[in-house]
Amino acid sequence: MGVNINLNNRQPSGGQSLSIVWIIAGVLGIIFGGLLIGALTPTLLPVQGSAESQQVDALFRFMLVIGGAIFLLVIGVLIYAAAAFRAKPGDRADGPPIHGNTTLELVWTIIPAIIVVILTIYSYQVWISIRTIQPLNHDVEVVGQRFAWTFNYDITPETLPAGVSAAQLDETVLATLNSEEGLQFSHPQLHTWVGEQIELKMRTEDVNHAFWIPDMRIKQDLLSGRETSITFTPIRAGIYRIVCAELCGAGHGNMAGTSVLIDGEVDLRGAWLVVHEDEQTYLREFYEPEAQKALFPPEDPVERGRQMLASGAYPCGTCHVLADQNWNGNIGPNLNNIGTRAASRVGGQTAEQYLHNSIRNPGAYLVPGFGNLMTQFNDESGEPNYMPEEDLNAIIAYLLTQTQ
Ligand code: CUA
Repeated sequence: MGVNINLNNRQPSGGQSLSIVWIIAGVLGIIFGGLLIGALTPTLLPVQGSAESQQVDALFRFMLVIGGAIFLLVIGVLIYAAAAFRAKPGDRADGPPIHGNTTLELVWTIIPAIIVVILTIYSYQVWISIRTIQPLNHDVEVVGQRFAWTFNYDITPETLPAGVSAAQLDETVLATLNSEEGLQFSHPQLHTWVGEQIELKMRTEDVNHAFWIPDMRIKQDLLSGRETSITFTPIRAGIYRIVCAELCGAGHGNMAGTSVLIDGEVDLRGAWLVVHEDEQTYLREFYEPEAQKALFPPEDPVERGRQMLASGAYPCGTCHVLADQNWNGNIGPNLNNIGTRAASRVGGQTAEQYLHNSIRNPGAYLVPGFGNLMTQFNDESGEPNYMPEEDLNAIIAYLLTQTQ
């Protein structure tokens, strides 16, 4: 048996008309309050770096308005109830029991259901819109690996930025672009330019990672054994932090861009997104110099090894310390002075053999105090974590010169 509660009986003094005024004032207060809270959106979120971020933020603002209004309603009712229905002095009795109120239950079921349906439709539209791939001319392969990101650029004449004339490019670069294979190189940073939709094709060499650029409002998981992708169109030149958003092991926190000052110069470490002003700037400041490096590797294996490691083609720097490369990873053994120590690490192995084994089969010998965390780099091109013998030899030659 239900008990009818007549709120008016319990209200503090005041007539019927006064309470209607209060209800209208309360409803307006909640609506305007929700809109005011929603207006905080730009101060709560990072800059809008991409075209997609405008749609994502509009959706966020919409949800914040609704959430803010519900927050004010709940808090308002709570404060009103605490004031209006507080116990009278000396009254220790329980309040009357309440058994159901069909109208109220319908209201608090139907209104949230409508809100959820509206949000579903709206979010789905935003999702479809930001995942739409335009006819692309710029895609980059992203490889996630504990604990670094590598960006593989593969450029052919067809994928050159629209509007670039052959005369703007160095002859050798152009010749390689026109060759069958095109030109490929790796870099630890993602470079693109304003107004160009970029498609990232992602794969992981080991566990799951998540590629996140907060300023671009994009986040996409990298799943073992599967290629995933995401697109975005930067609308603002600048340098933006890339972060791993999936706990992937001891160095998870290192899979993010950091920067340090070295001799007054800002040195970008790890993963950053660099958005150039336009395609000409991209070509001049990023593409050409990298293409030159890829086309004319130094003859000297030591220099080649140094350059290869600096290019981020292999993610050693996130786990190891090495002053010459400004590496400060603290997960694996320190590589400073490795050139002096390598020869005496394992009995019967020369320095070259020791370094070779440490990369091809890192689990075979572990430096005391370190676990078996290092990626094994294989010598077959189809295998995961492929490192050609030539690259390995250049890296070993370089590491042997590290004697302080
Ligand atoms: Cu990769 Cu966390």
